[in-house]
Amino acid sequence: MRQVIVAGNWKMNTNKAEGEALVAGLKAGLGETSAEVIVFPPFPYLGGIVAAAEGSSIKTGSQDLYIEDNGAYTGEVSTEMLKDVGCSHVLVGHSERRHVLGECNKMVNKKARKGLDDGMKVVLCVGELIEERQAWQMESVLDEQMSWGLAGVSADQMADIMIAYEPVWAIGTGLTATPAQAEEAHLYLRKWLELHYSSEVAENTRILYGGSVKPDNAAELIGQPNVDGALVGGASLKADSFLGIIAGAG
Ligand code: 13P
Repeated sequence: MRQVIVAGNWKMNTNKAEGEALVAGLKAGLGETSAEVIVFPPFPYLGGIVAAAEGSSIKTGSQDLYIEDNGAYTGEVSTEMLKDVGCSHVLVGHSERRHVLGECNKMVNKKARKGLDDGMKVVLCVGELIEERQAWQMESVLDEQMSWGLAGVSADQMADIMIAYEPVWAIGTGLTATPAQAEEAHLYLRKWLELHYSSEVAENTRILYGGSVKPDNAAELIGQPNVDGALVGGASLKADSFLGIIAGAG
């Protein structure tokens, strides 16, 4: 049985006080949930958010990492720094890093492997553009992003990988994939894992959906057989709406 994950990617939003108040609100409202809850705040606030989340089951992750241990890499942040401030998880390959910041599949792979090698749990994000979907290329895009992203990742290491399917056309647009569209993509990804790893890896890997998840659509999306949770952007910035999504996750 795969434990459902509800993760909040705050992107470049919140300030110190807002982020800590958000976590305080989540702690107060979380109650008993069977979901694994993870927040991904901006770099400068990570330590404060880890401290704010103390005493709860909320985990903290980073939105990115760099592939070297330390040295002359101005502006970058290493896995050791992230772990030092209490981060357990990291996002790699988010569509905004791919499409706004020009990150290529090869770099996504290096980041995924660096995170795994250094003991972090890695959320590998994949998803097609609208023009790729319209050209019936969804599967080939997902195949390419998965093949590159997971190149050199062993079956054992897959225990620390989560996949997030985030169709780019659904991110921040209010255009959510229908539950059937999400399920179709997730089923493709699960079969991909079976083909390239094993039925055990396919069965155990959590595949999250991201793209305009809200309290009113979360339950139906997460209710799909191959949707194991949500990676939430905008609706994770308010405790009420994020708690509503967690409640919908069961
Ligand atoms: P929205 O929920 O704002 O569409 O963002 C999704 C996302 O990119 C999460 O990583």
